[in-house]
Amino acid sequence: MKLFTKVALASVITVLAAGAMANSAKSMKHAQKATDLRQSIFSLLSSNMGPLGGMARGKIPFDAEKVGKHALRINQLSKMIADYTRTDTSAHKVETEALDKIWSQPDDFAKRIKDLTKASANLQKAALSGKEGLMKKAIGGVGKTCGGCHDDFKAE
Ligand code: HEC
Repeated sequence: MKLFTKVALASVITVLAAGAMANSAKSMKHAQKATDLRQSIFSLLSSNMGPLGGMARGKIPFDAEKVGKHALRINQLSKMIADYTRTDTSAHKVETEALDKIWSQPDDFAKRIKDLTKASANLQKAALSGKEGLMKKAIGGVGKTCGGCHDDFKAE
């Protein structure tokens, strides 16, 4: 294969790969819809984190079954983040705290998602053990992954 052909082919493959990762919102309406969906995922994450934080802080009694339920939901929601953040809304004036880095540094963002998937799986395991100390520690681990991503990808 001629070098020119190789280079051309490589760039086509790169474009295709990038296309599979992110797409830009085509209109303000599209950007608004994508933003609403993106924020919905994080709202649901937050609503599941609330009771866990309450238990970890001793505000509500530990309940291993509930810990397991919220951990499962957080784990499932974490696996939806990539899809619901795929549309790049940075060219539109939507009300958002999402930083443009989400789309310019996709590998770093993907790593943050993976951290949450892992931490929530770990919390599911801790819930099965029924041990309060383990659950408390694992809830802290999940919280750290929320904060870790916010530090890099969410405006204050
Ligand atoms: C992979 C990155 C990432 C992870 C992990 C993450 N967040 Fe976020 N979060 C964001 C970004 C980005 C936004 C801003 C979304 C926007 O405004 O469009 C956000 C927004 C939010 C919001 C505001 C939602 C709204 O309606 O505007 C809450 C609450 C929140 N996150 C809670 C959490 C909790 C709790 C966790 C952990 C269980 C978590 N997040 C994990 C990136 C992340």
